[in-house]
Amino acid sequence: MLSKYHWWRDAVIYQVYVRSFLDSTGDGVGDLAGVRAGLPYLKKLGVDGIWLSPFYPSPQHDHGYDVADYCDVDPLFGDLAEFDLLVTAARRLGVKVLLDIVPNHCSSEHPWFQEALSAGPGSAARARFHFADGRGADGSEPPNNWHAMFGGPAWSRVTEADGRPGQWYLHMFTPEQPDWNWRDPQVGAEFDRVLRFWLDRGVDGFRIDVAAGLFKHPELPDSDDPEADARTRDSVNPLAWNQPEVHAVWRSWRSICEEYTARDGRERLLVGEVSVPTAREHALYVRSDELHQAFFFDLLSAPWDADAFRKVVSEAMQDIAGTGSTVTWVLNNHDQVRTVTRYGEPAPEGSGLGAARARAAALLMLALPGAAYIYQGEELGLPEVVDLPDDVLTDPIFRRTGSRARIRDGCRVPLPWSGQASPFGFTSGVESAKPWLPQPEYFAEYATDRALADTRSFWHLYRDGLQLRAALPQLGEGTLRWLDSPPGVLAFARGDGLVCAVNFGTAPSSAPVSGTPLLSSGPCPAGVLPGSTAAWWMSDGTESPAP
Ligand code: NOJ
Repeated sequence: MLSKYHWWRDAVIYQVYVRSFLDSTGDGVGDLAGVRAGLPYLKKLGVDGIWLSPFYPSPQHDHGYDVADYCDVDPLFGDLAEFDLLVTAARRLGVKVLLDIVPNHCSSEHPWFQEALSAGPGSAARARFHFADGRGADGSEPPNNWHAMFGGPAWSRVTEADGRPGQWYLHMFTPEQPDWNWRDPQVGAEFDRVLRFWLDRGVDGFRIDVAAGLFKHPELPDSDDPEADARTRDSVNPLAWNQPEVHAVWRSWRSICEEYTARDGRERLLVGEVSVPTAREHALYVRSDELHQAFFFDLLSAPWDADAFRKVVSEAMQDIAGTGSTVTWVLNNHDQVRTVTRYGEPAPEGSGLGAARARAAALLMLALPGAAYIYQGEELGLPEVVDLPDDVLTDPIFRRTGSRARIRDGCRVPLPWSGQASPFGFTSGVESAKPWLPQPEYFAEYATDRALADTRSFWHLYRDGLQLRAALPQLGEGTLRWLDSPPGVLAFARGDGLVCAVNFGTAPSSAPVSGTPLLSSGPCPAGVLPGSTAAWWMSDGTESPAP
């Protein structure tokens, strides 16, 4: 029996970066048994589901986004039996489980890529990837001028079986991540098999890596502006990303999910990592027969400014709501500088401004119509670890560019759970264990046990916000109505009477609404909305709509 309620439309999903969540074996790397042990904590927080970062067998050149076998668990993280236990435990608690699927590229250790290397030019095995002859008299120039997202050219040359330099293959990320050729039907068929493998094991859906990728322009022509492609990690090369053919894949994946739903009534969710230039293009990915959700990253990249936030929210509502989907809001993930640090700059360290703004942003996000994703540690107010020494950095961006700009290790440092010193309870039972990235001493302040005990903590703010979302029909899905508010303050009404206002400035403002206070991100005297603060009220109906 299909339910009319689509749980995913206003779901709050918690992103578990498995290697940094909780380590059950004492090897310093988080694992699936650790995730299972942490489920009660997540249930208490009140999230609807979890998205697990890739745990498949992988040489870990890009922490699992280089998949060598899509249908197994890397021994680093456990095994299939442990995975099954995790799914069962989550189901028992009513927590949905989403896997991270990586269809744009695999690992150079994937058996099909190894087969392609030995099969040679012109073979069916090479047709599953993008192999091409090089340019120049001796083929020593890459086939085109595309740049890889993580630095350097997007092509690497192979040595053929006879020992001579041979063809080149395309990799939009690192050379260890060859791109699949989705124009070869075997690739799509293999991914259908992979989806079914995990759906049969009971998962509730998939987060799809690089969902605007997969297809490249069929002729692989030169990019007009390779320098612009190189300057940004955004998907700006229109020949490599966002090709129209990709939409047929999402329609087909959606129908697979629906086939499973028709069998057991459990709705599965596909959420795409879609980086495209405009909200309008983004909306194409969430048409009613494609992905259920696509991360809307514009909020994540918006500066702390009322006008910037208002523009992003308005565009998303206008362009995405029309698809019949809902907007999927994100403030943090494993690729971005954490909000506490991002919003803190350039304020002097220790001013607390970043934390105050991150708390306000959280209340704003949780009040917006649609779904939201929380990245582990966000609920603790963890700052970015900005001073990791070069010799511990593992991000391939650092390895490929030699620059610390945009490196992602700082948001991936293992979570603190308890105690005064590293490993802060991250590794179970082995006090001498060394987490795979060093945890700073100040992580003690953020440990989950302290957070749970302190009602003023980030954790309680998130938990209270999630509880209200669950209790109040005005939150979650629906529309948003902007309200009149002083400059630097955003205020909007949700449904019947619920008002959220955020003061982006540092000076106090008058509260743009009168009514019953429900929740605020900081102390909020009656009638006042202090700087860098957000609040929710149940209004008495006296506020006026924005002109
Ligand atoms: C996006 C993922 O979020 C990121 O961590 C990864 O490095 C790239 N895709 C490549 O798979």
